[in-house]
Amino acid sequence: MAAKPNWPSEKISPEDLLSLAREAADRAYVPYSRYHVGAAMLFENDEVIQACNVENASYGVTICAERAAVVIMVSQGKRNPLAIAVTGSHEDSDDYFRIECPPCGACRQALTEFNPNMLVVMASKDGAKIFELKKLLPHSFTLDPE
Ligand code: THU
Repeated sequence: MAAKPNWPSEKISPEDLLSLAREAADRAYVPYSRYHVGAAMLFENDEVIQACNVENASYGVTICAERAAVVIMVSQGKRNPLAIAVTGSHEDSDDYFRIECPPCGACRQALTEFNPNMLVVMASKDGAKIFELKKLLPHSFTLDPE
């Protein structure tokens, strides 16, 4: 694997994290959109949590995979995510490793709360793409401006 600048784990590569996101996406509850999103969040000591999107007949109640990850993370007593991989694919396409699934604006805000320096891994035709969250959501809302 080529060196990834600032990548926080020796053991789990960005591609590994994408695979774990994809595994979670397979468990998504998506009877309405049939669009499966998976997230895998990396912490110190190579700990990982997985999450998926959960839809509802009342559409607005739907929970995105990334915000589900935030809820799971906090519920498990974790507060410092270092990276998150996100995959998305429609049931008819099943092409998780080629299609980018950028986190929506609300999820970017929810993730920023815990670590604006978090790395965000997305799948693409050319392999794993790594972004810094603070560049995906510049000038984000905070009650504690610098
Ligand atoms: N979705 C996510 O899980 N994360 C995002 O960042 C964007 C959208 C989900 C919500 C819904 O279940 C499906 O994708 C289609 O919008």
